Amino acid sequence: MPVIAIIGAQWGDEGKGKVVDMLAEKSAMVIRFAGGDNAGHTVINPKGTFKLHLIPSGIFYPNVNCIIGNGVVVNPESLINELENLEKRGIDTGRLIISDRAHLIMPYHTLLDEFEERSRGRKAIGTTLRGIGPAFTDKVARMGIRAGDLLDKRSLRHRLKKVIGIKNTLLTRIHETEPLSVEEIYRQYSSYADKLKPYIGDTVEMVHDSLNSGELILLEGAQGTMLDLDFGTYPFATSSSPISGNASIGSGLAPNRIDRIIGVYKAYCTRVGSGPLPTELHDEMGHRIREQAQEYGTTTGRPRRCGWFDGVAARFSARINGFTGAIVTRIDVFDGFESLKVCVAYRLGGKEITRFPASISELERCEPVYEEMPGWNQDTTGARNWEDLPLEAQNYINRLSNLMGCPVNFACIGPERAQTIEVNPVFKAKPGQL
Ligand code: IMP
Repeated sequence: MPVIAIIGAQWGDEGKGKVVDMLAEKSAMVIRFAGGDNAGHTVINPKGTFKLHLIPSGIFYPNVNCIIGNGVVVNPESLINELENLEKRGIDTGRLIISDRAHLIMPYHTLLDEFEERSRGRKAIGTTLRGIGPAFTDKVARMGIRAGDLLDKRSLRHRLKKVIGIKNTLLTRIHETEPLSVEEIYRQYSSYADKLKPYIGDTVEMVHDSLNSGELILLEGAQGTMLDLDFGTYPFATSSSPISGNASIGSGLAPNRIDRIIGVYKAYCTRVGSGPLPTELHDEMGHRIREQAQEYGTTTGRPRRCGWFDGVAARFSARINGFTGAIVTRIDVFDGFESLKVCVAYRLGGKEITRFPASISELERCEPVYEEMPGWNQDTTGARNWEDLPLEAQNYINRLSNLMGCPVNFACIGPERAQTIEVNPVFKAKPGQL
């Protein structure tokens, strides 16, 4: 059986939680490979509505092993809260394993995230303030504390002493704030260690055992491609890599083990935080999409910026990820819209371009070139087959597929598992010309 990576294809919040929850039914394992508790995956299933930040969306099935991979940064406090909330609601979390190589978010990371954002002033990134950037910075600087360090308290104390010494210099001299206490943090993390110890282990062995047994494995992405550290709208990006290349690095599964890479796109675009969103709508239409779709952040509650589907960014995303297929979510949001616009190119300096610029200042000067398509005055939420969709919705999905350069595998017309239409089978569809 194959390995499928599920990747956010836009600016995050594309509905990956629903997609993974749906595909996990036939899987033996779901692995989160990037990000941290900055992610917010909403899952609505027969057990209720759940908002997950770190725990893979496969946790609702008794047959699925859920792995927090080495590529994730873990805030132990939020993980423990999430575990307790799930258990309180009758969800068994005994099949969760945290990679001993995953880095931890420490109190100084959240503090520094806040100080750094404040110091950026009007140029603030609009981070989730979860300490994600500073935690990944420490990983790269080889100053991180990993989940495995919780298993050896003597070495944990030793490492904390070293790292907090350096952080305190930064906190007191640069940010002019109080130093942190090594002992306090040691005590706090020791108590997290006691709670999390049964969950921490060597996930590489488990992943490969599952692979060798021929089981279906899902690699669950977090955030979206356009927030990628290399290919996103830098510096308005997150600090890890949400793209398919990192599905391998963040899980310990080699690239040639990944059989299908599926991009999750919303039928329109949204973004939270600062940075360019070329098709952003500042008018009544943007407001209409936000309210119709209830586009408010799962993690921060912030209103999301909304805009038309961006075909230029969509194709760029499909290319750098190597999408073999796509899932288009939230088609139903457009039920009752008279007409829809799709961005097919950007106008920059009097010329039309279809490449996605690296430079923020260029991107800010790009004006979307739109194609207008007729909408549909019909409720699609009850559709279960392609033929149930109005012709206009079919045409819209086909146009998006054409712009992305890959087939659409599924279209979603509501948050529930059943509100999903198979358009092209994941394993039969030809990958297309990206
Ligand atoms: P950070 O990941 O908290 O450092 O935030 C960096 C940027 O990524 C900000 O613009 C955030 O709003 C955005 N971001 C981080 N996580 C998510 C997510 O799960 N969905 C959408 N945007 C996100």
